[in-house]
Amino acid sequence: MKIQIAVLLSGRGSNFKAILNAIQTKYIINAEISLVVSNNIDAPGLVYADAKNIETLYMDKSLHNDRESFDRVIIEILQKKRIDLVCLAGYMMLISPCFVNAFKNRIMNIHPSLLPSFPGLNAQKQALEYGVKVAGCTVHFVDDHMDHGPIIAQSVVIIEDNDTEDSLSKRILEEEHRIYPEAVKLFVEKRLLVEGRKVKILGR
Ligand code: GRF
Repeated sequence: MKIQIAVLLSGRGSNFKAILNAIQTKYIINAEISLVVSNNIDAPGLVYADAKNIETLYMDKSLHNDRESFDRVIIEILQKKRIDLVCLAGYMMLISPCFVNAFKNRIMNIHPSLLPSFPGLNAQKQALEYGVKVAGCTVHFVDDHMDHGPIIAQSVVIIEDNDTEDSLSKRILEEEHRIYPEAVKLFVEKRLLVEGRKVKILGR
């Protein structure tokens, strides 16, 4: 039985494509993306999934009174589809504790900074404005706090003197596309062991 992956996204979907590509090229074996969920009906990532004949689900937040009732609908669908791993890939909504609990240590997120530095929006801009010499990206398990859970993988990107938000974001994105599939592969191979804040990588 293949590991069933759901991707939640709100926009472009380049990280979703990177994971999909890793599966199609057999870098990740024994897994499939069986659902793509979005809170944005126009998300290019959702449109792409549809074109690739992957089941998609648009969730309209305005039909729900609060975040929890919105998330409960998603949880139920994910459970019905026996999803093993949830990948947040540019999903611009905070997920509620009931979601985190239902998929404990089975939800991953990618963030374009070296956490715990620069959580939240516009991480690359924050890094440039702060004047740090290195930036990067982080894949982590999701807990109850934003951009906070146990770290699975990070990659460092050197900041150049003439970097703009665009140029830096572009180089970070290349690293995102490398480490997110790598983290998913480790999960699929059951090589991630979470002990408190630490994620041990087995068999290295
Ligand atoms: C990425 O920079 C990711 O780190 C952040 O949102 C962006 C999503 O990009 N969480 P994409 O939709 O995967 O292209």
